[in-house]
Amino acid sequence: MNLQIRKATEADAAQLPAIERSAAELFRHDPELAWLADAEVTDAAQHRAHIRQQRVWVALLDRRVCAFLDAEACDDALHIWEISVDAAAQGRGIGRRLLETVREQARRQGFTALTLSTFRQLPWNEPFYQRCGFLTLEANQLNPRLQQVLAEETQHGLPAARRCAMHLDLNNL
Ligand SMILES: CC(C)(COP(=O)(O)OP(=O)(O)OC[C@H]1O[C@@H](n2cnc3c(N)ncnc32)[C@H](O)[C@@H]1OP(=O)(O)O)[C@@H](O)C(=O)NCCC(=O)NCCS
Repeated sequence: MNLQIRKATEADAAQLPAIERSAAELFRHDPELAWLADAEVTDAAQHRAHIRQQRVWVALLDRRVCAFLDAEACDDALHIWEISVDAAAQGRGIGRRLLETVREQARRQGFTALTLSTFRQLPWNEPFYQRCGFLTLEANQLNPRLQQVLAEETQHGLPAARRCAMHLDLNNL
């Protein structure tokens, strides 16, 4: 497999909405979440703004962009807002490699943790991140920032009972 992972450039931005839409097709497997496959995605202009902030990585398979990860510095943590792998490229270890690359770069840059929010128990969400070393945070372990992230997701229609926040300590790697 000819896989390359690098920081995104503005020229990549136009391809990222289609990748997010394609990735989200996975949610059709879950009746309660199927609507996410048709939900609005981040548009190219927003991606361009994030790319200018140096917060987007892409994976290229045979030189074609097939995945991206968007993460934002939040104090000493790097918060992963989105990771999407095009449906045609899923299940080949690309999501894991992208996550591991960003984890390593974040550690070297001095971030103390990776954080994210995701769906509990969906095979490609919480259990995947747990296998990558993330811990699921209980309600009493959430800092105000992560409480707000989960609250805003609920306002946008995500089922609160199925969402969780997760944390990977980068100090002990
Ligand atoms: C999550 C996602 C990025 C993973 O990318 P991927 O390249 O397909 O994943 P990988 O091939 O690296 O596999 C990662 C792990 O997830 C599991 N997995 C991936 N797709 C799966 C599926 N459809 N069903 C069950 N398990 C799955 C694999 O078994 C693998 O586990 P392991 O590495 O411990 O063996 C991809 O599924 C995706 O784009 N999903 C839709 C968007 C999404 O849910 N993003 C995450 C938001 S928090």
